Amino acid sequence: MATAVGGPRAGASPVIRAEKVSRVFGQGERGVSALREVSFDMAPGSQWAVTGPSGSGKSTLLYLLGALDRPTAGSLTVGARDLAALTPAERALYRYTTVGFVFQEFQLIESLTVWENVLLPFVGRRPQRRTHEPRAQWLLDAVGMAAQAKQPAGVLSGGEKQRVALARALVNDPPLLLCDEPTGNLDQATGARAMDLIQELASEAPAKTLVVITHDPGIAGRFEHQLRLRDGRLVS
Ligand SMILES: Nc1ncnc2c1ncn2[C@@H]1O[C@H](COP(=O)(O)OP(=O)(O)OP(=O)(O)O)[C@@H](O)[C@H]1O
Ligand SMILES: [Mg+2]
Repeated sequence: MATAVGGPRAGASPVIRAEKVSRVFGQGERGVSALREVSFDMAPGSQWAVTGPSGSGKSTLLYLLGALDRPTAGSLTVGARDLAALTPAERALYRYTTVGFVFQEFQLIESLTVWENVLLPFVGRRPQRRTHEPRAQWLLDAVGMAAQAKQPAGVLSGGEKQRVALARALVNDPPLLLCDEPTGNLDQATGARAMDLIQELASEAPAKTLVVITHDPGIAGRFEHQLRLRDGRLVS
């Protein structure tokens, strides 16, 4: 595969360390323990599959890693950052400089075009947007969505939205790439191509740390490192 058009990176991939991370939604007897004392270390540039039954805490874990949510207890550090201690401005900067996130439900803005959606990370950052436009174009080509660049995202099929969401997550060349079921809406061949792209882009030097949630054993089997969750606990 051709080498991607590069963008300025935030720096080397960070070490990730989770120590007894818990996340409880709600309080008292009605509280739901989505994660229970989960601990792991991820080396810079390592690639992980996260598996487990529905409701086992996979998305919750990814949201914590993306600083879209905070742990109820325990410590979660990414490089020098303690994710629980960041101010709102620091969280926003962390997400912009460090994280690419593919949401389970895509989170595209349906009234905006495909092109505008891919460039959404640069809202309010016009010079950076300019320098990343070639990479956005390259990524849309790579996911097979260049022809629909001017279409509003709302008219796309689920699989097309998923591929646009992938291009958006990669546009800033993030050192940490978090993907929640990135092939869940794709047929087997398109899903395999999307995973090839994700893993190749993650492996290019300097390697990104990649965390992919999947229900598909074939996709999980591509990863050297596995996190298996059950009822919010790590089982391996
Ligand atoms: N915002 C929330 N408020 C209350 N409960 C929540 C919230 N988010 C998640 N939960 C609960 O936490 C548990 C874990 O949810 P999570 O979304 O992490 O599961 P998952 O493993 O991603 O499941 P799936 O494979 O179905 O996507 C579930 O019981 C869920 O209902
Ligand atoms: Mg989920």
